[in-house]
Amino acid sequence: MAGEFDGKVAVVTGGSRGIGAAVANRFAQEGASVVIGYNSSADEAHALKEELKTAGARCIAVRSDVVETEEVAALMNKAVDAFGRLDILAACAGISHFGALPTLSPQAADQVFAVNMRGQLFAAQHAAHHMADGGRIILTSSNAARRAVFEHTLYTASKAAVDAMVRCLSIELGQRGITINAVAPGATATAMVAQNAAKYQPPGMNLTAEEWLDVSYALDRLATPAEVAGAYAFLAGKDAAYISGRTLPVESCVF
Ligand SMILES: NC(=O)c1ccc[n+]([C@@H]2O[C@H](COP(=O)([O-])OP(=O)(O)OC[C@H]3O[C@@H](n4cnc5c(N)ncnc54)[C@H](OP(=O)(O)O)[C@@H]3O)[C@@H](O)[C@H]2O)c1
Repeated sequence: MAGEFDGKVAVVTGGSRGIGAAVANRFAQEGASVVIGYNSSADEAHALKEELKTAGARCIAVRSDVVETEEVAALMNKAVDAFGRLDILAACAGISHFGALPTLSPQAADQVFAVNMRGQLFAAQHAAHHMADGGRIILTSSNAARRAVFEHTLYTASKAAVDAMVRCLSIELGQRGITINAVAPGATATAMVAQNAAKYQPPGMNLTAEEWLDVSYALDRLATPAEVAGAYAFLAGKDAAYISGRTLPVESCVF
């Protein structure tokens, strides 16, 4: 495996499944040594690691719950122990949440923000600690962060926080020659969306998930995880050297 990321080391949180697994795959295909961070999906993470190693990549899989900051620190330390450096962080771990205002609990708010906001913040902090000039940090937002989505308040707020984080952190990290950006996927064919696609329509509009995609997406279909992974590769690559503090949408939503 050889390409743009030859000699680079990439950590991917949420690398066991969905978009994160596609990002790990893409970085490995282009020559990076890859650290797959996972939480509950050990079998999937280790299967992907073996697949990438068989294809010629250098790869390890490390369990790291992004809610536990010391586990996030240990993930970055293990990357450096294994491969000697850290160049790229793709923070893909995330959870969805839907709920009406009267049903929202402090526990749910804490959990959604712990994974989607705090998990990405401290992944960026601990990754940046190891990075040199030229480091790249890519967080994961959502197209939902800029839309009114029925009963999706906690999730969209947590992703709007990601957009704010990359804007602010770009100044600090820019002083060290590190860029930080976010990818904002639209509806992408993963387990997360299989459970939720039809919930993105306004109340009273009772379309099937397929009908909803037809009316709301210019391209009439979900994105593939590989298509979304291309945006992470772009932001990690040389063509994005002068982009920082930005959120890159990967979607075709017409509303
Ligand atoms: N799919 C979409 O349409 C879409 C749209 C916009 C944004 N996004 C965002 O894209 C990212 C990936 O989503 P996806 O669709 O690929 O979701 P997914 O298929 O449900 O995968 C979620 C990933 O996050 C990991 N994760 C969850 N909680 C974690 C924790 N506490 N610690 C470490 N890892 C954790 C999971 O790891 P384990 O399985 O190992 O626990 C898994 O690898 C998320 O940030 C999501 O919000 C997705």
